[in-house]
Amino acid sequence: MILHRPISRRHVLRTGAAFTALSALSPARMAMADSTGDPFVLRAASGQAALRPSPYGPTNVWSYNGSVPGPEIRVRQGDRLLVLAQNGLDEGTTIHWHGIRTPNAMDGVPFLTQDPIPVNGDFLYEFDALDAGTFWYHPHQRSSEQVGRGLYGPLIVEEVDPIRVDRDLTWMLDDWRMTRAGQLSDDFGNRHDAMHGGRIGNSVTINGEIPERISVQSGERIRLRLINAANARIFGLDFGDFEPVVVALDGQTVTPHAPDGGVVVIGPAMRVDLVIDMTGKPGEAVTVTDVFYEGLEYRLVDLVYGPDRLRDSVPDWSMDLPPNPLAEPDMASAARHQIVFNGGMMGQMMMGSGMGSMMDQMREGNMWFINGEAATGHMMDPLLVLPQGTSHVFEMDNRTAWHHPIHFHGHSFRVIARNGQPTRYREWQDTVLMAPEERVEIAFVADNPGDWMFHCHILEHQAAGMMGVIRVDPGTTKT
Ligand code: C2O
Ligand code: CU
Repeated sequence: MILHRPISRRHVLRTGAAFTALSALSPARMAMADSTGDPFVLRAASGQAALRPSPYGPTNVWSYNGSVPGPEIRVRQGDRLLVLAQNGLDEGTTIHWHGIRTPNAMDGVPFLTQDPIPVNGDFLYEFDALDAGTFWYHPHQRSSEQVGRGLYGPLIVEEVDPIRVDRDLTWMLDDWRMTRAGQLSDDFGNRHDAMHGGRIGNSVTINGEIPERISVQSGERIRLRLINAANARIFGLDFGDFEPVVVALDGQTVTPHAPDGGVVVIGPAMRVDLVIDMTGKPGEAVTVTDVFYEGLEYRLVDLVYGPDRLRDSVPDWSMDLPPNPLAEPDMASAARHQIVFNGGMMGQMMMGSGMGSMMDQMREGNMWFINGEAATGHMMDPLLVLPQGTSHVFEMDNRTAWHHPIHFHGHSFRVIARNGQPTRYREWQDTVLMAPEERVEIAFVADNPGDWMFHCHILEHQAAGMMGVIRVDPGTTKT
């Protein structure tokens, strides 16, 4: 797929000088469960960030608490999160806690679950961390631009009884569209991006820095939490000589397994937790390459072994994370629903009924459709009304020529099958990447009452209509 501008790290990394190991790769950690009960403050405001290494100057961004990513919020499973969101932007905003099962009123969806936080206003988010795992936060208001300018941060919920590793690292990946002057290109929401693969950029950062090398130690075991905060870029990471083991997807434990074809694929908003044993020798280096877009592979970063050796053999510690308390769908009684995605360039818009209506909507600038409807805002009639407590299967059909990471709020779902083939690792996800023309079945218990967004997490697709609401109705009794 060569339908976007090629990445060129070169124009920001022209010197060829060896940059020193990144200091900021372990962002400040926040101990949230403080006994005072004071909320943790997250303030959204414009500022600057050193996305490019020196001697290049800073880039104007929007960020939380002055840093990109925003502070890593780290709590223990079962803790109560108390976050006071302050709006220092010039427009309304919200915070959505991606992947976390919150009460509906804490979900941060403007107009649907709360009014946007006004300029200079604030909003107190408060909920329990039911599930351990790797999550993140970002605005849900005009997210293509607000997230695209740097508003996002990691939210890590530690297991009460975690797996043993030597280091627990978070890599929050992002992709920026920068001008030659090192500023963000301000063509947010342009029509070409919306009709194609979204806003693909030209500069990839790990934890807000264009990385050159990261130090590791021979013999150590690392838990690497990957979070894709990009608007649109899909990553396919090849870890070279390493043998990464996937231990969690979207925060939820999965049967530990080697990634398919050795490549760790992460669509926008998705998370993958890896366990990697550093089996090389002191002084060696391993290159991590992003190979997702054919013909546009590039070196993401080098992992460089320091002089010391921590241990000689690979530890035999368990990689099985404890499961979260998710309700198992009852496949025998599950109601089945067809969900068809249409639109974009080169799509099969012409299939089925409702084509005329989609053409009309396209004339109004909506380009993506779920069951023939394009969303024009966050408030809409629900696509589906599901009685609380009942099991459901969504038979999702991507009738487009594009990938779509489809996200459902307030729930995690089992990914049951792809193109009719059962999945293998008991995948629980909150965002599932659908390949062009792919059919994916997901199953879940509608156990969290409220109106929940169901949308593509390519933020330009979401803005151009690929969004719907699913209502979990506490008042409807099971039949
Ligand atoms: Cu990550 Cu609807 O959001
Ligand atoms: Cu999409």
